[in-house]
Amino acid sequence: MKLVLIGYMGSGKSVVGTALAEVLGQAFIDLDAYIEKKEGQSISQLFDNKGVIYFRKREAQLLFELLEDGAPAIIATGGGTPCYGGVMDRLLEQEGVTTIYLKHSVDVLSDRLYHERTHRPLIAHLDDPQELNEFVRKHLFERGFDYGRSQWVIDCDGLDVGEVVRTIVGRLF
Ligand code: S3P
Repeated sequence: MKLVLIGYMGSGKSVVGTALAEVLGQAFIDLDAYIEKKEGQSISQLFDNKGVIYFRKREAQLLFELLEDGAPAIIATGGGTPCYGGVMDRLLEQEGVTTIYLKHSVDVLSDRLYHERTHRPLIAHLDDPQELNEFVRKHLFERGFDYGRSQWVIDCDGLDVGEVVRTIVGRLF
């Protein structure tokens, strides 16, 4: 079984994925890091050098490449991965994959992201916290439909990483 973590930027997909993989004794793959390795450049450089359309195609292609083998693993997607090019439909059709949405409120996400925005090309320019909050609100509204189609939806507000991991593990066994 592959567990595919889904959620907005700042929702903790990488940190939860790492901890979950450790508990389950499985491999963890961060899709952004995998893209960076394959492309030999950072996500920000990739956006600048090749553009967002190239990035969206490449992230979808590499995700489904990772899903091809049957080995168990935890995969953290990027915030936009399920929202373009029919990726969510394909994920839901894929056998041996469970999609898990790490759901947070706009305020929790925008507070977290304010301090982590510089390496994220979509929000790096938003220096005003209120502007960032409004961006996240609109963006999450657009993306929430796809995220919410995940097989499992975990309400993460108020939970620390360990509690999110325990919630997921509790549903697995
Ligand atoms: C993006 C999220 C990022 C990264 C890229 C685009 C998005 O991943 O894939 O900057 O469209 O939301 P994280 O969710 O890991 O920050």
